[in-house]
Amino acid sequence: MTGRLHGIGSAERQSPTVQFYLDGKIVTGMVGEPVAMSLWALGERTLGWNEESGEPRGVFCNIGHCFECRMTIAGQPDQRACLYPVREGLEVRRQPRPSALTIVDGMTRL
Ligand code: FES
Repeated sequence: MTGRLHGIGSAERQSPTVQFYLDGKIVTGMVGEPVAMSLWALGERTLGWNEESGEPRGVFCNIGHCFECRMTIAGQPDQRACLYPVREGLEVRRQPRPSALTIVDGMTRL
């Protein structure tokens, strides 16, 4: 899949930029900034979906504690995008959206 996204404010960016991939699309970020912040600057707020509810997930704490920003980065699932530095050619993917709401009650597990 090809395509290019240009972020809001990208023209004003002063630091050297790198190109990386979000779900196969070429996007830009600034050297050394966290993946989540590169995506935030591009207007990408949904970084994945809750495994149970299917609701969108994104940056919450931005300091590596909550794990709400988990993405597959460089082929490794569940990487915290708020901590992972962007680099040239990095492949970033949103983790699969659950196909259906799965409700498991405590009695079923017994
Ligand atoms: S936003 Fe909380 S761990 Fe990344």
